[in-house]
Amino acid sequence: MPKIKMWSTLIVFLVLCSFKVECYNVLGIFPHFGKSHFDIFAPVMKGLAEKGHDVTVLSYFPQKSPMKNYKDYTLKLNNSALSMGDMIAFDQLPGIRMQRYLEPYILGIFGKEACEFALFSTPVQQILDSKKKFDVIIAEAFNTDCFLGLAHKLKAPIMQISSSTILTWFNPRFGQPMNPSYISSCFMGFSDKMTFLERLENTIVVGLHTMYYNLYLLPKYNSAAKKRFGKDLPSLKKIGNNVSMIMINSHWSISRPKPLSPAFIEISGVHMPKLKKLPLNIEKWINESKDGVIYFSMGSMIKGHTFPEHKKQAFLRAFGRLKQRVLWKWENDTMPGKPDNVMIQKWMPQFDILCHPNVKGFVSHGGLLGTTEAVHCGVPVVVMPQFGDQHTNARALEAGGGGIVLDFHNIEEDTVYRALKTILDPEFNKKAKQLSERFRDRPMPPLETAIYWIEYVARHKGADHMRTAAVNMPFYQYLLLDVIAFLILALAFTIFIVYHTIRITCGMCCKKTQKVKKS
Ligand SMILES: *[C@@H]1O[C@H](CO)[C@@H](O)[C@H](O)[C@H]1NC(C)=O
Ligand SMILES: *[C@@H]1O[C@H](CO)[C@@H](O)[C@H](O)[C@H]1NC(C)=O
Ligand SMILES: *[C@@H]1O[C@H](CO)[C@@H](O)[C@H](O)[C@H]1NC(C)=O
Ligand SMILES: *[C@@H]1O[C@H](CO)[C@@H](O)[C@H](O)[C@H]1NC(C)=O
Repeated sequence: MPKIKMWSTLIVFLVLCSFKVECYNVLGIFPHFGKSHFDIFAPVMKGLAEKGHDVTVLSYFPQKSPMKNYKDYTLKLNNSALSMGDMIAFDQLPGIRMQRYLEPYILGIFGKEACEFALFSTPVQQILDSKKKFDVIIAEAFNTDCFLGLAHKLKAPIMQISSSTILTWFNPRFGQPMNPSYISSCFMGFSDKMTFLERLENTIVVGLHTMYYNLYLLPKYNSAAKKRFGKDLPSLKKIGNNVSMIMINSHWSISRPKPLSPAFIEISGVHMPKLKKLPLNIEKWINESKDGVIYFSMGSMIKGHTFPEHKKQAFLRAFGRLKQRVLWKWENDTMPGKPDNVMIQKWMPQFDILCHPNVKGFVSHGGLLGTTEAVHCGVPVVVMPQFGDQHTNARALEAGGGGIVLDFHNIEEDTVYRALKTILDPEFNKKAKQLSERFRDRPMPPLETAIYWIEYVARHKGADHMRTAAVNMPFYQYLLLDVIAFLILALAFTIFIVYHTIRITCGMCCKKTQKVKKS
């Protein structure tokens, strides 16, 4: 009997994987409840399953229909107040600068849910109990590291994945340069060319946020992880510095160029599905517009009907002055004062709409998914960033020629009209199309890139060899503070010696001359 079982297992194995490719057991750990994050991770995990790897996923988002090679362990939110993270109202966003400084504090609140509740939940225990041997573990790099404890317990090489550009405090772990002179904090919304004051603000914010994470949040996560996995668990910082690689939802064409450590893999575009046919009514609306169509959506997280009335009217009046038709993603059945060239609908297939050749503009909140889709399709964007990384996405898009930023406080009929006129200009459209070509021109499509590096880490049982020496260097050595201090001392010493030599020599000279004078 055992022999037959062995043979049948072997046959299944050979059928599932082609002969050349090895099958790996991959675990995905995604303990954040934001759906837009999982929209980046799901295609990667599904892509692995489709290639024949055995995929296990711990998340809040189980597959709706079962998928071959894909097993879900589903987390449930304890603090139901947090589910408002899916849908927020405009008046919950103060829109003040302070909000950008406090982002890590808000992320810390989400991290609390992950570390104090999800970490102790049944699905985590079930994964440990399954005694499954994983070849590689992929953990989300976002607000917390406490799930690295689980990854460590399972004794497999760890990779991380981020649904946004990298959060400041993860840079050192990958030896990734984070020079604030030209790399904006993901929350600040600067482009890569900053004025003196912007560089000053950016430097202070990057420093304070990194300190806040390492000195305030990380110790809390550490004690949660030790409580869950035992006192002998190495510190999360140690486990973190041992992570092989990080896959980032960015690309230099969208997020501005910067030097990348070999352990830093850009996979922007990984979430883009195949284009589907548009619903008939939408396609007809787009087809029949002689001058093109503008698509308006504030994403899935902000409730449309809370859009301030005055600002909504400004948009409606500006739209009324345009020849173009407008598609507005709007959650209510009616919109009073809507001109004839505006069509509202509760749900719209955003990506398919943006890639329709007759769509000439996009009004957006600067969420990274929508921004990436617009760049991919070559549609210029008017961005009204609200929170999180949106300010930085917006500035980077503007710097790349893919859109312009419209300050939410400045929304009036005229500013809106001028912004729309700007992106509808054929010259602007040409720049967006060029950006799209640069975005798509890559050695390997993003999903294949992600899968390649996951298989790479599994194949080589980790990628220690790709970590730069910067990772485990004390910060004073990394910043050369000791060398600078030594050079300053050496210079001071030299000046001291030279000064005194001159003084003594002079003194002798002077004495001689005095003697000569006296005599
Ligand atoms: C949520 O967490 C609290 C303590 O953090 C606990 O008392 C409560 O039982 C949890 N709720 C559920 C539904 O498990
Ligand atoms: C670092 O990773 C290697 C394999 O990738 C593992 O053998 C080692 O135990 C890890 N060390 C820590 C502190 O996690
Ligand atoms: C829209 O135009 C395209 C291309 O001209 C055509 O293939 C499609 O059938 C049209 N759809 C509708 C609903 O008119
Ligand atoms: C729009 O719909 C939401 C619920 O989806 C409701 O709370 C709100 O009152 C509606 N607003 C208007 C103006 O109908």
